[in-house]
Amino acid sequence: MILLCKKSEVPENGVLRVAPSGRKPLAVYNLGGEFYATDDRCSHGDARLSSGEVEGDLIICPLHFGSFDIRTGMAVDPPCSREIETFRVVADGDDLFLPPA
Ligand code: FES
Repeated sequence: MILLCKKSEVPENGVLRVAPSGRKPLAVYNLGGEFYATDDRCSHGDARLSSGEVEGDLIICPLHFGSFDIRTGMAVDPPCSREIETFRVVADGDDLFLPPA
């Protein structure tokens, strides 16, 4: 498993950019104490989703304000139309891990 970060580093109902060595950067989310991860790059353009805003279950892209469902990666609001990849996150104490695919 790949160590992502500490739970305490991810703001409540917020997002943290994590760049595990040898992997593309991920956006790690804390939705009410449940942790999720997605691609950090928006599928619409060259923007970091981890620089966007979490609104409920959505991440709002900071560039053109499209949005994605954090849990499923589905595009919700235009101009986003292609989903982003989601990743399972496993917690062990205060550590968050990315399990093997
Ligand atoms: S780059 Fe994200 S909505 Fe356009």
